[in-house]
Amino acid sequence: MRSYIRGLSYYVPEETLTNQFFEEYLDTSDEWITQRTGIKERRRASKDVLTSDLALYASQKAIEKAGIDKKEIELIICATATPDHLFPSTACILGNKLGINGTPAFDLAAGCTGFIYGLSVADSFIRAGAYRTVLVVGAEELFKIMDMEDRTTCVLFGDGAGAAVVCATEDEDRGILGFKLHADGAYGDLLILPARGVAVELNERVLEEKLHFARMKGNEVFKMAVREMGNVAMEVLEELGLSPDDIDWVVPHQANIRIIQALAKRINVPMEKVVVNLQKYGNTSAASIPIALGEALEEGRIKEGDLLLLVAFGAGFTWGAMVLKW
Ligand code: ACO
Repeated sequence: MRSYIRGLSYYVPEETLTNQFFEEYLDTSDEWITQRTGIKERRRASKDVLTSDLALYASQKAIEKAGIDKKEIELIICATATPDHLFPSTACILGNKLGINGTPAFDLAAGCTGFIYGLSVADSFIRAGAYRTVLVVGAEELFKIMDMEDRTTCVLFGDGAGAAVVCATEDEDRGILGFKLHADGAYGDLLILPARGVAVELNERVLEEKLHFARMKGNEVFKMAVREMGNVAMEVLEELGLSPDDIDWVVPHQANIRIIQALAKRINVPMEKVVVNLQKYGNTSAASIPIALGEALEEGRIKEGDLLLLVAFGAGFTWGAMVLKW
């Protein structure tokens, strides 16, 4: 028994923030943002649209693509760093919005690696024979945790969601071939949202010191992301007895074009085989891989039978890679 993605889709909110939007009120420039990150624009969800709503829109499209009845879904996993609430989980809220109440559901917190972690959990449940159909979602509203006055973070991120219906198959020649996951909490402070959990008491200091917004030591994240994304990609390929030449498409986490170029160089894959769309959406954390994959599928670039390498790095730190045959 193995698992494969039967349907995948994504949703991004309509409002587009260009680099010029930030130029107008911050000490930054289109030139700096483009050269240092590759990002040109990103989407922002309105105040009354929640992460669970983005998750819902992406899930409805993925279910339609999969051609299944939503009642066939046996488990919902929502990877997010920006849940509607600490509890109930966004996955539970999503289950209710989808109208499949009673289906087990949980959130998965693995930062930008969340979608790969989520697919790995779905794959493991399916291989173990526990479930046959799992909905895996990556959904984020990062603008709601951004300090819009902090030029070192607010220009980098964006809102969006992607969803995959993962199903069981007896076909040996398709689906998820393998994955490798890692995490190291020693680096937690380098990318942190300090005051939305129980660690920091809620008082005026939180607002004064902006502890309710995300903080990142970007250049330190950068170095580690380049090294570990390359390492974990090679690790999963070696374990499967594959070489980078066997891969048709690399679908990396979309954080920074320089990280992606360094990754491609490290694993010796030409940029023509790498899916890049961060110029349009910025870093959408757990949503970035399914949005990139969804768009490449829509454009007809990824075809049935293609071998894909997914690879990501994010808060935690967490990192991971997965190989699957589309
Ligand atoms: N506009 C203009 N100048 C800026 C901006 C900006 N928006 N942001 C920072 N700068 C300045 C800095 O203040 C610094 O100035 P100084 O030299 O006077 O101190 C200078 O630019 C260089 O700053 P660095 O941080 O060293 O720049 P770097 O080249 O490393 O680029 C960036 C910064 C884009 C954040 C990069 O480090 C990066 O992409 N890091 C990784 C982010 C990432 O991958 N996160 C992954 C996971 S995210 C998640 O899990 C949620």
